Amino acid sequence: MSPLCLTHADGTTTTLRNRLLMGSMHTGLEELPDGWDRLAAFYAERAEGGVGLIVTGGLSPNREGNMWPGMRTLDSEESASPHRAITTAVHAHGAHIVIQLLHAGRYATHAEGVAPSALRSPISPATPREMSVEDIRRTISDYAQAAILAQSVGYDGVEIMGAEGYLINQFMAPRANQRNDEWGGSLENRIRFGVETVRQVRAATRSDFIVIFRLSMLDLVEGGCTWDEVVEMAKAVAVAGASIINPYVGWHESRVPTIASLVPRGAFTGLTRRLKSELDVPVVASNRINDPRLAEQILAQDGADLVSMARPLLADPMLLNKFASGQSALINTCIACNQGCLDEAFSGRLTTCMVNPRACRETELRIEPTAEPKRIAVVGAGPGGLAFAVTAAQRGHQVTLYDAASVVGGQFNLARLIPGKEEYSETLRYFSAELVRHGVKQRLGERASSESLLKAGFDHVVLATGVVPRRLTWPGIDHPRVLRYADVIEGRAPVGARVAIVGAGGIGFDVAELLSHEHLEGDELAQFTATWGIDLKGQNPGGMTEPHPARMRRELWLLQRRPDSLGKGLGKTTGWIRRALLRRRGVNMLSGVIYERFDDEGLHITVGGVTKILPVDHVVICAGQESEQSLLGELERAGQPVSLVGGALMAGDLDATRAIDEGVRLACRL
Ligand SMILES: Cc1cc2nc3c(=O)[nH]c(=O)nc-3n(C[C@H](O)[C@H](O)[C@H](O)COP(=O)(O)O)c2cc1C
Repeated sequence: MSPLCLTHADGTTTTLRNRLLMGSMHTGLEELPDGWDRLAAFYAERAEGGVGLIVTGGLSPNREGNMWPGMRTLDSEESASPHRAITTAVHAHGAHIVIQLLHAGRYATHAEGVAPSALRSPISPATPREMSVEDIRRTISDYAQAAILAQSVGYDGVEIMGAEGYLINQFMAPRANQRNDEWGGSLENRIRFGVETVRQVRAATRSDFIVIFRLSMLDLVEGGCTWDEVVEMAKAVAVAGASIINPYVGWHESRVPTIASLVPRGAFTGLTRRLKSELDVPVVASNRINDPRLAEQILAQDGADLVSMARPLLADPMLLNKFASGQSALINTCIACNQGCLDEAFSGRLTTCMVNPRACRETELRIEPTAEPKRIAVVGAGPGGLAFAVTAAQRGHQVTLYDAASVVGGQFNLARLIPGKEEYSETLRYFSAELVRHGVKQRLGERASSESLLKAGFDHVVLATGVVPRRLTWPGIDHPRVLRYADVIEGRAPVGARVAIVGAGGIGFDVAELLSHEHLEGDELAQFTATWGIDLKGQNPGGMTEPHPARMRRELWLLQRRPDSLGKGLGKTTGWIRRALLRRRGVNMLSGVIYERFDDEGLHITVGGVTKILPVDHVVICAGQESEQSLLGELERAGQPVSLVGGALMAGDLDATRAIDEGVRLACRL
């Protein structure tokens, strides 16, 4: 029997619907004036898509616990009552919803932050005030009060956030708790805050009210908890009344990636299984489980009682229904790029999803049948063109998609060849299936000309032709050892042992990753844990061990003209990972570089007024893109209605989030 539909000893069955939990995501809608209705639509769509249990984004039970000023709290009847819109909408689809209670502690970015000890975190702007015993007691009762409010507005439970380095986690770990009263020191004292919070929440609420505890299973920071301490905490919160334990990995300040695309799928499920074997309450597997087949496998092998998916449900709210009805090829899989979600959230903007711009815009971006079907040509099958073609065809337009290449994907075909970005193939698999499903006519391997487009008499032409490299003019640029990045990534141009990469935007970093990456011993998980120093055996406090990154065989220089530090424009939540990898491998990074020339001696550059020669075998050009608009002029002169999306509209560093968003929005308008 498939674990999608388990039959228990008493004859009852459980389906994955009851076993799939939507992980907590604070989206930013919570703070918008019209946020309640938008959140209701956001969650309702996921409930309709087959999720059985939803956890909302975290809200603090009091003001001090807010992450940033102006965040909403759950601390009064007035603050609670608008939540009814959410609970009603979710219940209408037969799903359950619990609200997460998250006190930021020392991660607060405002002046009122409090914590067990007055220790500033390395990523925080302010030092928190040390909580008095009175503060501690009041805060615990604020959690209980928030749970009562949640219950009163129809939530089926609460999730108490005890992970990711937030307040409860801060109490647990010596790293952030240096108290010597009954709330610090011994393990019993350090776990008291979390345990007492669960106990009071349980006591204040109905017996069938769900109390999930989000537990830090592996802190991944120095001074974190040991595995035995984590197990003790889990047992203690279960005794105090937690109905479900939802383990998480890493603190915000950890310098180990836990959810980016280079983290192997299901990397931490082995640890979850180990935790589950110690407990009598249901345990959730979480992080980088982006494929229902993996979820099914974890459940089948008894690795967890429930599986959590967060970002995968941004990418595709209908994921579970598609899987259950045998339409897995149509799942828009989360590729863990973090560009539309975490990067936006941590930049103070609304969360969305690179591969699904409708995420958190459900009420505004509606894909509805068109009243006036048109014949539309799309030139360019990169992400922007694909998003447009599929959405327009879904609305009922007759769409013909042209690309000079014989496969769809454009620049995504390069991205997916970069180590750690293999997931990008999933997006191409999804779009390819959608093109077929919606009857888009594919003219691949055909370079559309303005004459052929005009002759075909389309009602509208969409140019999604992307970018072309801008010609650099320094002497030696045409030397045979000066290479184009696409040739290097696709393996058409062999690259020597000493290489300079010109341009340190996203593409430059990708090329540096490709050229510096070496394989270590072991499977994907073993390589990942060795590279980052993760102790999955739980022998060391915080799960940290000495990293053993692979030695780079090449000598690499990553260069940029701008004077600021390299990688500034990379994603807020993933840029540090990419920089750290290159730094550990010994890639030379130089900014403020003036390129003089390339000749048989190497690349001649001037940095800070000093001229030097980098004795490289090859130079890879990753700088300067311009919009490919060569068809535009003639089409416009002929009076052809034309639109541009993505790189064809605006060059600069490649931005698939913008390209896909523009493609979908244009298709909704036409
Ligand atoms: C935009 C965004 C907001 C998040 N907000 C929260 C939050 O408020 N509370 C929380 O416990 N986790 C939060 N998370 C973490 C997710 O719950 C989840 O653990 C993480 O995304 C990894 O799981 P996934 O691979 O299934 O996405 C957030 C994640 C994202 C992408």
